[in-house]
Amino acid sequence: MKEAQAYQKCINPRCGAEFDRMEILFECPRCGDLLDVCYRWDKLPVPKKLSDFSKKWADRQNPLNFSGVWRFGELLPFCEEKYRVTIGEGQTVLQPCCGLAAELGMRPNVLYLQYEGLNPSGSFKDNGMAAAYSHARMVGATASACASTGNTSASMALYSHSCGLKATVFIGEGKIAFGKLSQAMDYGAYTLQIAGDFDDCMRQVQEVCRQLKIYLVNSLNPFRLEGQKTIMYRILEQMGWEVPDWIVVPGGNLGNSSSFGKAFAELKELGLIERIPRLAVINASGADTLSELYNERGLRWNGGHVDQELIADYYSELDAKHYRPNTIASAIEISRPVNLKKCVRALDVCNGVVRTVSDEEILDAKAQIGKYGLGCEPASAATVAGLKHLLADGTIGRDERVVCVLTGHLLKDPNATVNYHSQMKRPFSNPPVQVPNDLEKIIALMKA
Ligand code: F0G
Repeated sequence: MKEAQAYQKCINPRCGAEFDRMEILFECPRCGDLLDVCYRWDKLPVPKKLSDFSKKWADRQNPLNFSGVWRFGELLPFCEEKYRVTIGEGQTVLQPCCGLAAELGMRPNVLYLQYEGLNPSGSFKDNGMAAAYSHARMVGATASACASTGNTSASMALYSHSCGLKATVFIGEGKIAFGKLSQAMDYGAYTLQIAGDFDDCMRQVQEVCRQLKIYLVNSLNPFRLEGQKTIMYRILEQMGWEVPDWIVVPGGNLGNSSSFGKAFAELKELGLIERIPRLAVINASGADTLSELYNERGLRWNGGHVDQELIADYYSELDAKHYRPNTIASAIEISRPVNLKKCVRALDVCNGVVRTVSDEEILDAKAQIGKYGLGCEPASAATVAGLKHLLADGTIGRDERVVCVLTGHLLKDPNATVNYHSQMKRPFSNPPVQVPNDLEKIIALMKA
């Protein structure tokens, strides 16, 4: 059976243990490191060229071809079609944004925004959940859980409901934007609010899943990351199968950046692309573990021999200071990103860079993006805020083709938006104007 050509493998070259695709794992049982889903590509039917995928779109009455994830099924062939779950994820658009490019001093046709807010639950997570829940069905799981800053919980609540698995969500106290919390509650997830932050929730949910044998759908789950590779495939598809110069993505738990690196490494290995774009991962300055370790302390992939002590020392320092991450971009308010090692691998593959941006920069960038009709939540706007830094320091040239991934919809966090626009002093704020209930005064104001 061709799908048996997929297996799980520990990313640590000192271990490299392999496991069957049917095993339910979210860490290597031998050494505790992260797992990849790997494929024996030479035994699998991989298209000869990427443009072959375009034909699938002509057959979009088939839900698996309508899905922006499963349309690329040959590039994530870990389960048979009968297990594949879809609720129409990945109908997302790559939007050229000439107006914003001009504001940033870029050439008109070089800046694109990949609008993942158009997914069924309003964020990129649906790409991953389509894959994770397909694996969950294949292995016969009955209950699933996640820790979340909000979007993972919204997406998992939706997907678990659609395939009949129980859903338990762990959220931090007061740490979740209302748009997202409302989704988890409305989609019927059992929601546990832990007296702690996301990192505490992440720790607890792993232990709960180990002890109660519950299927974990956080991005530690390597099958979930397979689904997120397709965001990159769709970008290439919408660019006529051309590779952009840069992909810019927010960094939280670092699942996206990890999966993007894997997507490009595989496409190159398969001879489907000739060059790999560069990757920029943007941290909020109030949750900057990746930036601190990568830029300040020199953490590198190093052929898989990542300096574990460097990471452990840094986390001990955080503990000693009782450090808690803090940013308006609550989606990425994470200080112990579980995919850190995979992300430094992606940075290695993609000759990547890491930057931090302040909350003010995030909110200004968010309003600038919003003006062009592509509203996003604060974490997503970290991309454009980071791009400004990268243009200013010359890392990105003003004529390079750049794709910023807008990870979540504007309506996820309306409070952040309304608070920003209600302040007259912000550069892009657009507050409502008070006027009496009087036609003459309204007209006089509109003529002014
Ligand atoms: N953008 C949004 C809108 C997110 O919700 C997240 C993560 C990220 C970016 C960061 O992505 O983890 O792949 O680096 N949200 C998770 C959650 C943590 O629980 O919803 P990452």
